[in-house]
Amino acid sequence: MPNIHHHKILILDFGSQYTQLIARRIREIGVYCELAPCDVSSHFIENFDPSGIILSGGPDSVNDEKSARAPNIVFDLEVPILGICYGMQTMAVQLGGDATSAEKAEFGFAQIRARNQSKLLTGINDKINTDGHGLLDVWMSHGIEVTKLPPGFELIASSENCPIAGFANQDKNYYGLQFHPEVTHTKQGVKILERFIADICECEKRWTTDNIIKDLLQNIKSQVGEQKVLLGLSGGVDSSVVAILLQKAIGDQLTCVFVDNGLLRLNEGDEVMDTFSQNLGVKVIRANAQQFFYDHLKNESDPELKRKIIGNAFIDIFNREAKKLKDVNFLAQGTIYPDVIESAGAASGKAKVIKSHHNVGGLPEDLQFDLVEPLKELFKDEVREIGIKLGLPKQMLFRHPFPGPGLGVRILGPVKEEFAEILRRADNIFMEELINHKLYDKVDQAFAVFLPIKSVGVTGDERRYDYVIALRVVETIDFMTARWARLPFDFLDHVSNRIMNEISRVSRVVYDISGKPPSTIEWE
Ligand code: XMP
Repeated sequence: MPNIHHHKILILDFGSQYTQLIARRIREIGVYCELAPCDVSSHFIENFDPSGIILSGGPDSVNDEKSARAPNIVFDLEVPILGICYGMQTMAVQLGGDATSAEKAEFGFAQIRARNQSKLLTGINDKINTDGHGLLDVWMSHGIEVTKLPPGFELIASSENCPIAGFANQDKNYYGLQFHPEVTHTKQGVKILERFIADICECEKRWTTDNIIKDLLQNIKSQVGEQKVLLGLSGGVDSSVVAILLQKAIGDQLTCVFVDNGLLRLNEGDEVMDTFSQNLGVKVIRANAQQFFYDHLKNESDPELKRKIIGNAFIDIFNREAKKLKDVNFLAQGTIYPDVIESAGAASGKAKVIKSHHNVGGLPEDLQFDLVEPLKELFKDEVREIGIKLGLPKQMLFRHPFPGPGLGVRILGPVKEEFAEILRRADNIFMEELINHKLYDKVDQAFAVFLPIKSVGVTGDERRYDYVIALRVVETIDFMTARWARLPFDFLDHVSNRIMNEISRVSRVVYDISGKPPSTIEWE
């Protein structure tokens, strides 16, 4: 088994919104990489022993006194360096060149001409002009540009607005690009990154799904040995992939606890149990705690308090089940790499954060377990790939996100079992129709919301005075901002009719046309 971490790239993050994308592209190319804050210690960088370093873009203005710089050690290690956007500018300034405000800030597409046959860009083009020069369509996003090459550097790309759009010191294998190869708008971006990673840094492509799985299984076995592991299984992507990995690695040394809190979607509890317990042979204990959750949520209408109550109730139940099991030594968690990055400082080894289950509450401190976190180096798309390879159902791996507190934050105000029943059925009709009309995969999140207000309707000759269901559908990349999905009216009409015909307690269906901001995606 080759060491899949042997060839690796370090990405120093100067704060660009695209930094994680750089990492995902490199992983897709087949090479391991990690992100670290741009001010990470020299000791960390040296110990990491990178095969190459990438300096990301960032929001700083390179001539500001307080703007960030790459640690000097980066230039002492004698490894290839690629500076992207701000990364190129700080490289220029640190190595004796200059950067100043661009005459024209550039945001969007630009065409650059590759120059001087650099190792990085030679032979990579979208077009060739009549003079035989390679041209590339690239994505620019900058207000500052390099205006003087550092000593030893030559020009490798230019555009009409940006005379120094790329530079290189080919003896040292230092490269700078003013544009963003990591975004898909730069059509040849992956090829350029691949040229840097595979040819210039000479990294072997060992980061493949098969290799990752082998590595994970081996690591789990050596960490756990003959001991027992407990996993809180929610049926979401991360905990499901952890369950299947642990099952493969240690078989029945694994016990999962699945808490049915009465706030799950239609048949969800049975589906999770069928998938894991029956089809995959995983030992799963189902804790039926519906009434416990409803009792604790009774009369509470504040969204944040509801979240807290659900989080604490989850811990109570999980704790209770865990205590029934004897001799458990490890607690497994579905922490993934973005959680680690977001919990800050992780790359420098400063933070060891326990992911609270469902992002609500946290696990009690008196649960004295060591942690098993097999996914903590992986991005979500890598986790999904592993899930596919290990035979988890695709519809489970590609399901829209579902919040930890579940229907608890989709029933506005106090939660009642009766409301949950209505919402479950309405939501299920909506999902069925989205799937039937091939719209489910075209949107990023869709769900129904229960409004505990009554509205008048008529069916036949009868007056109806009953509840309202709202339909929420969004398109989004990062869930930080979102646009409401423009679904066809005929489709919405069909869904609305089905809901009102099939659920007598609903007298009105409305469609949410609020963007985020100012609204949030969830209603609570
Ligand atoms: P908002 O409503 O904040 O949602 O625009 C953004 C994304 O986060 C999900 N969400 C949650 N997920 N626990 C979770 O695990 C929560 O308490 C929670 N609240 C919102 C939401 O579904 C959307 O995908």
